Amino acid sequence: MTRILFVGDIVGETGLAYLEACLPELIRVVGADFVVANAENLDLTPTSGGCGMTPPSLRRLFATGIDLVTGGNHSFDAPDQSVHDDVRVLRPLNSAPGAPGRGAGVIVKDGLRLGVINLASRTTLPHVDEPYPAMEAQLAAWAEGGAVDMVFIDFHSESVMEKMALAFAVAGRAVGVVGTHTHVPTCDTRILPGGTAYVSDVGMTGPGDGLQGYCEAQFIDAIRRGVHPGPPQRLAPGAIELGAVVITVENGGAVEIERISPRFLQ
Ligand SMILES: [Fe+2]
Ligand SMILES: [Fe+2]
Repeated sequence: MTRILFVGDIVGETGLAYLEACLPELIRVVGADFVVANAENLDLTPTSGGCGMTPPSLRRLFATGIDLVTGGNHSFDAPDQSVHDDVRVLRPLNSAPGAPGRGAGVIVKDGLRLGVINLASRTTLPHVDEPYPAMEAQLAAWAEGGAVDMVFIDFHSESVMEKMALAFAVAGRAVGVVGTHTHVPTCDTRILPGGTAYVSDVGMTGPGDGLQGYCEAQFIDAIRRGVHPGPPQRLAPGAIELGAVVITVENGGAVEIERISPRFLQ
């Protein structure tokens, strides 16, 4: 039996500090073998793209026990792009050919190899390529060389229909397809034919009393004025919200996907 823990979009210092305090214990309690997290909102960079990841925050995040991080539309927000030199940092695989970094990676634990693919949809990131060709090419490359034992996909998209369709398209070929980006957790955890765990959106890990982890005022103001809200300026206040799922894999296929809430630590 293998367990994969996935933590949804980590928002700012609030989310990072929470994981520093709680993730090692959570990993132990759920018995996670592999730990993956979406970190596109790890930092607040209001003078550049708004979010993204910085090297100091990533160092702290990896110290909590996370093996690899994925990204999305905010992957390139931070001014320092050196984070993409780290093989543990993924950005969407279907990004432009000249984009820094990589969209797929392999985690090896006790001889078991988990291939992770990060994808983004064109409704979320209009300038990326269609996700299917990039995904199929990566799956074919891994299959040909026998390079991985299991495949896990983070599909970053605004659209439930797109996320669900892609999950069905790889049902039986990936042990998990999880949706990210909306920061809103959905309750449709399910196992698709062939043993593929699925959820439309894992939700976020960050401060709960705002809009997607940020203060809502700038967004309301922008919508009223009919302009783009620009980069987030402030984190929201409030108690932490934990968006996470754990997937149990047996004999090469997922048999269970369960939401994780702070009650696991009580
Ligand atoms: Fe996003
Ligand atoms: Fe996000």
